[in-house]
Amino acid sequence: MTAHSSRLLAWCRPGFEGECAQELAAHDAAAGGGGFARAARGSGFVEYVSDNAAAIAGRWRHLVFARQLLRVIGHAQQMPVRDRLSVLLPIIEGDPRRWCDAWVEAPDSDAARELAPLCRGLNAALVAALKKQQRIDRGSRWRLHLGLTATDAAFVAAADVGETAPWPGGIPRLRFPRQAPSRSTLKLEEALLVLLDDDERERWLKPGMRGVDLGASPGGWTWQLVNRSLHVTAVDNGPMDAGLMASGLVDHLRADGFRYRPQKPVDWMVCDMVEQPSRVAARMAEWLAEGWCRYTVFNLKLPMKKRYDEVEACFAILREAVARPLDLRAKQLYHDREEITVFARLGSAGAR
Ligand SMILES: C[S@@+](CC[C@H](N)C(=O)[O-])C[C@H]1O[C@@H](n2cnc3c(N)ncnc32)[C@H](O)[C@@H]1O
Repeated sequence: MTAHSSRLLAWCRPGFEGECAQELAAHDAAAGGGGFARAARGSGFVEYVSDNAAAIAGRWRHLVFARQLLRVIGHAQQMPVRDRLSVLLPIIEGDPRRWCDAWVEAPDSDAARELAPLCRGLNAALVAALKKQQRIDRGSRWRLHLGLTATDAAFVAAADVGETAPWPGGIPRLRFPRQAPSRSTLKLEEALLVLLDDDERERWLKPGMRGVDLGASPGGWTWQLVNRSLHVTAVDNGPMDAGLMASGLVDHLRADGFRYRPQKPVDWMVCDMVEQPSRVAARMAEWLAEGWCRYTVFNLKLPMKKRYDEVEACFAILREAVARPLDLRAKQLYHDREEITVFARLGSAGAR
């Protein structure tokens, strides 16, 4: 039997369990391990078993397809409907840690959606029980997670708050801004939240900066930049939202986003053009290598079968073409469908 300390639980977009498993295996192999994944297509999660689990447990920020990465402590099964805590608490008590908080989550799958009310009820009962046992310590770096996969089954897991997603299920809940021209706006908002930290957002996104939006129509991504008081050149043959144009901060250019280049370097270039990912990656690399922008966020559409391989190929194109240290961060966001979103800039990734 495998020890629980050698198991990881990753939440992912349903339908992308294969990519998530492939990526965990690649990180495991790079750290000298040889584990295996248990994953059911459409489930929204991957269980990964490896003697090397501790070495990859802190790699949530480096994983594209995992929304969250947790260390499994135990697995509760056949929980009685009227007293699930009778099975859960002994598993939790077997771990000496105190917890800053406890979250009860379910996968993001259609099948698990009906577990949401149960998660809420169980969360309240669990926190009350932990408080009674004085196992809650707000200063602890560990958060307790229950991953409910059925009404009677749950993973019990731990998260180091410094190296895991700070949102239940790894999903930041964003409200659609009423004035924004399209729902895609949430994709860029989520990208800036997930791929940058607070300090970076403050330093790298300042009022008065200049940006370019390639494939901008109707303006959801441009809106995010304008909302932060950036001046934006929006490149698209399609129309831009009238309200957004009235801000006075947008120049609309009806031109080909693959040919356009700015007359002077800009701070930001964002790109949401629907095109072959390798073509987008090559163009993004050119912008960075030529110094046309300092920071970029772009989307890679993945309609093909071998999606993990395609992402790796795109990263290789970027690294090769830029040929300098590249800070490359990518996630399949909650608002991404068959696609991922990437942040890149010249420079090393530092502590990330
Ligand atoms: C997914 S939409 C962009 C949505 C936009 N990000 C938003 O938030 O409203 C893709 C856009 O890319 C544009 N597009 C595709 N190929 C392009 C090209 N070569 N040059 C400029 N725009 C292009 C399309 O006209 C379309 O408006």
